[in-house]
Amino acid sequence: MTMTDLVSLSEIDSNRFGVNIARSNLATSGNLASVLEFCKEKQVDLLISRCGSTDIASVHAMEKAGFLLMDTLVYLKKDLRDYSPQSFQSDVNYRTVKPDDIPQVVEVARSSFSGYRGHYHADPRLDAQKATEAYASWAERCCEDPSVAARVLVAEFQDEIVGFRAIRVNSPRQAEFILAGVSPQARNRGVYRGFVIEGLRWCKEIGAEEVLVSTLLVNTAVQKACTQMGFGAHNSYYTFHKWFK
Ligand SMILES: CC(C)(COP(=O)(O)OP(=O)(O)OC[C@H]1O[C@@H](n2cnc3c(N)ncnc32)[C@H](O)[C@@H]1OP(=O)(O)O)[C@@H](O)C(=O)NCCC(=O)NCCS
Repeated sequence: MTMTDLVSLSEIDSNRFGVNIARSNLATSGNLASVLEFCKEKQVDLLISRCGSTDIASVHAMEKAGFLLMDTLVYLKKDLRDYSPQSFQSDVNYRTVKPDDIPQVVEVARSSFSGYRGHYHADPRLDAQKATEAYASWAERCCEDPSVAARVLVAEFQDEIVGFRAIRVNSPRQAEFILAGVSPQARNRGVYRGFVIEGLRWCKEIGAEEVLVSTLLVNTAVQKACTQMGFGAHNSYYTFHKWFK
């Protein structure tokens, strides 16, 4: 793994929150010293770092270095090789996003992720509104940039967008459900479940053999809907924040 794979400055996060933010993927007890050295050299204010939840030695090393736990991500996986797309009854219309829909998708993301329990909102030193905007702008990038999401599905009810589901293609055989949200007023009516079914249909159509979904450990709705559709537990990661001042 190169240093850039291990840790890098995050321009998007830094611009949003107005402090110098770096991100590290899979910090371990073995590489933590180099990651911290990088942060010192670059005068990083906040390091956001993921760590595999089975790697307790690294968790302890990060705790000793003053990192604080912000959230836990779980990954679920579904094998699509023997899966046949399902049909279901709904008064909601599922379709691919169109450019005109983007402002509504951003608004759905904003209302969905307000007060979310992910790592940005969990950190009392980060502004909660800016944390919500991180998801709104991610949703916008999903709609506009195919390198962020290969497909965005929307749920439409009475001419209004009430939800969205972004899907990334990680490799020819693997797709990943990345970001999704359902408007608070449209919740608990199976809109998300419909996205799982329609998302799996699209993944099957492009020839993917497996689909990943990641969500917070505390996000029971996503885990329920996905396990009911045959997803199984795969792995999990902790997200830590380390402030240097
Ligand atoms: C998570 C979210 C997408 C669920 O959307 P939804 O359309 O209300 O979900 P559904 O109606 O399809 O429900 C799916 C399952 O979760 C359950 N569920 C819904 N909300 C729940 C909650 N708050 N707590 C526990 N279970 C919940 C439903 O009862 C259903 O299970 P069941 O069939 O066993 O009853 C929506 O709450 C949301 O946008 N949350 C904020 C953003 C988010 O978490 N995005 C996903 C992660 S990227």
